Amino acid sequence: MTDTAPVAWVTGGTGGIGTAICRALAKEGYRVVAGYHNAEKAKGWLAQQQADGFDNITLSGIDLVDYASCEAGVREIREQHGPISVLVNCAGITRDGTLKKMSPEQWHEVIDTNLNSVFNTCRSVISDMLEQGYGRIVNISSINGRKGQFGQVNYAAAKAGMHGLTMSLAQETASKGITVNTLSPGYVATDMIMKIADEIRDGIRQGIPVKRFGTPEEIARAVVFLADKESGFITGANLDINGGQFMG
Ligand code: CAA
Repeated sequence: MTDTAPVAWVTGGTGGIGTAICRALAKEGYRVVAGYHNAEKAKGWLAQQQADGFDNITLSGIDLVDYASCEAGVREIREQHGPISVLVNCAGITRDGTLKKMSPEQWHEVIDTNLNSVFNTCRSVISDMLEQGYGRIVNISSINGRKGQFGQVNYAAAKAGMHGLTMSLAQETASKGITVNTLSPGYVATDMIMKIADEIRDGIRQGIPVKRFGTPEEIARAVVFLADKESGFITGANLDINGGQFMG
């Protein structure tokens, strides 16, 4: 790691897909700031990364749902490491349930964490990216934002909304050296899909043409590609990585 290494902020960095993204970006030489929600889990997570030789990964406990926390956290990252040039919005939660049973809290929690957070993070980093004349934003959406999903009106709405933000911000920043793209993973083998009842999960797997769930690393390699400075002609795009489960 050198002092001039570009800084990448990965929200949800300690999660299933987030961890693979942090490690893949760190391998590419970025100084990676991994966002976390659970401080206790994050401490052990960082120790594991360091044990695995990743000394260019650090942590940040920014509350993504709180705009002031995002602004203050980004200022802190800039002071400690330099301006952020890559932002990966990977933080996300599920609160599944059919609409007839869904509480307003289930709706708001998911919209706040999965969508409002993306406004907060993008708004907090955009001035620095404009000043640098360079930036890469990758929004991790979902196959279910593309096709909808039984039991996920909240999650699908947030993930579809994310791509609206992507396309709009891409237009606003295209002439400024900044790209903004969406990546829509299908079902990836992480703790999030382990929350689905076994028989439903098995049914989903059967419906995936490649007949397996994806791996976090298969998502991370596409993030590295979109974050690369040579990928400057790709903006406002959505990249589906779902084993053929949805072809839009
Ligand atoms: N399509 C049509 N009907 C369905 C259905 C489907 N996919 N799934 C269930 N049903 C039917 C059932 O057969 C049942 O019918 P009857 O009432 O006639 O018996 C009825 O719908 C069940 O309705 P309930 O409201 O009682 O549902 P429930 O409480 O039993 O379960 C649920 C609802 C928890 C949401 C469950 O369906 C579920 O877990 N679904 C999977 C949701 C999912 O895929 N989540 C993804 C999480 S991972 C993720 O989000 C990461 C990512 O980006 C991919």
